[in-house]
Amino acid sequence: MDKIVIEGGVALEGVARASGAKNAVLPLMASALLTDEPCRISNVPRLRDVETFLTLLERMGVEGAFDRETGFLTLRAGEAIATEAPYELVKTMRASLLVLGPLVARWGVARVSLPGGCAIGERPIDQHLKGMEALGATIALDRGYVVARADRLAGAEIIFDLVTVTGTMNVLMAATLARGTTVLENAAREPEVANLAQALNNMGARIEGAGGGTIVIEGVDSLRGVEHAVIADRIETGTLLAAGAITGGRVLVEGCIPEHLEAVTLKLQEAGASVEKGKDWVRLEGPARLNPFFLETAPHPGFPTDMQAQLMALATLADGTSFITENIFENRMLHVAELRRMGADITLRGNTAIVRGVDRLSAAPLMASDLRASAALVLAGLTVKGRTEVSRVYHLDRGYERLEEKLQAFGAAVRREPA
Ligand code: EPZ
Repeated sequence: MDKIVIEGGVALEGVARASGAKNAVLPLMASALLTDEPCRISNVPRLRDVETFLTLLERMGVEGAFDRETGFLTLRAGEAIATEAPYELVKTMRASLLVLGPLVARWGVARVSLPGGCAIGERPIDQHLKGMEALGATIALDRGYVVARADRLAGAEIIFDLVTVTGTMNVLMAATLARGTTVLENAAREPEVANLAQALNNMGARIEGAGGGTIVIEGVDSLRGVEHAVIADRIETGTLLAAGAITGGRVLVEGCIPEHLEAVTLKLQEAGASVEKGKDWVRLEGPARLNPFFLETAPHPGFPTDMQAQLMALATLADGTSFITENIFENRMLHVAELRRMGADITLRGNTAIVRGVDRLSAAPLMASDLRASAALVLAGLTVKGRTEVSRVYHLDRGYERLEEKLQAFGAAVRREPA
């Protein structure tokens, strides 16, 4: 288990390039199950979650070839697939659940372990199951596994009770092979949903409205293979920009999609950063002292929950009091305790953090707890003269491709060491 060591206190300056998005590549990998033809995915980031998902698919019998140098991944799901996602993989990565819809749609059966809770919340899957049942699947629970069966799925009108990203993706994928028309209401509008729908349409699916709250799918009998590029990671982009903002530096992130992180760049501007955007780049100049701000996380296009911890790191140093409310997950405040150990002044009231800015944070040995909390601790460490260590960096490696190298490109004194 590695740790990240930071000698902070330097205003960052430099250029980094965004990688492919974790939350776009995982559903794309799952969609390969919908066809027996090869699916060639490019711009695949080297992430632990990608390796975990590849292990899951290969254990199911999918042929996989991942060139980690070029980021090209080819997947082919022939007929002989084991339609089961085992507990030991699902418990490490909830996104494994994304095989549920494709397996039932193509093989008529899926046995997927219930994911269990995780650090940021209980994260139930009732909406996934509601959607599958609406399409005609029978759902049974068997010793911690969901067993879903259907002869042939049939289109339906489905209104999600709450906005769920992978719930929308699961039901969307299943509906592509259902008989007839499916209408999804209150669907997730994240860019990763639209990217998945684009890939599915290139495979022969007939989907309209993805990226909006209502998605209409005309089922087809089969899908073909596809070549598809993973979109840039808007959360990694936001995290890199936040590094510039918190250190009062000047950073440029290239190869990104500025319109996918509007809520984030607006909030960074509210906090006092100046932001310039091009077609596929964002430049940020951080202020000498950040302004305090209000922040409420919400489904896209609202402020993304995956950037909440990073903005809280900024708030700890702002010139005033910030109010940060987490509305998506019930327990996504694990970074608060660690930030307090660095001298941050944070009071929790339910799902709202009241953050009184301090002049400086102090170095401390820190422990990561979830993917985005780890990033927040790294950002905080970048502001501290002296040595900050963040252990359990495997959390970071789940969703950030070589983050320390990108921060080094910004001039940060940050390195990875064996713990
Ligand atoms: C996706 O998770 C992302 N993961 C998460 O990113 C992200 O934080 C989340 O969407 C919200 O944007 C992937 O895309 C792989 P949800 P997902 O279903 O789909 C509740 C990261 O850091 N809910 O949109 O699992 C749920 O408990 C990760 O990259 C139900 O109640 O999230 C949560 O409170 C973390 N029942 C809320 O909805 C359900 O059936 C949103 O969850 C499904 C969800």
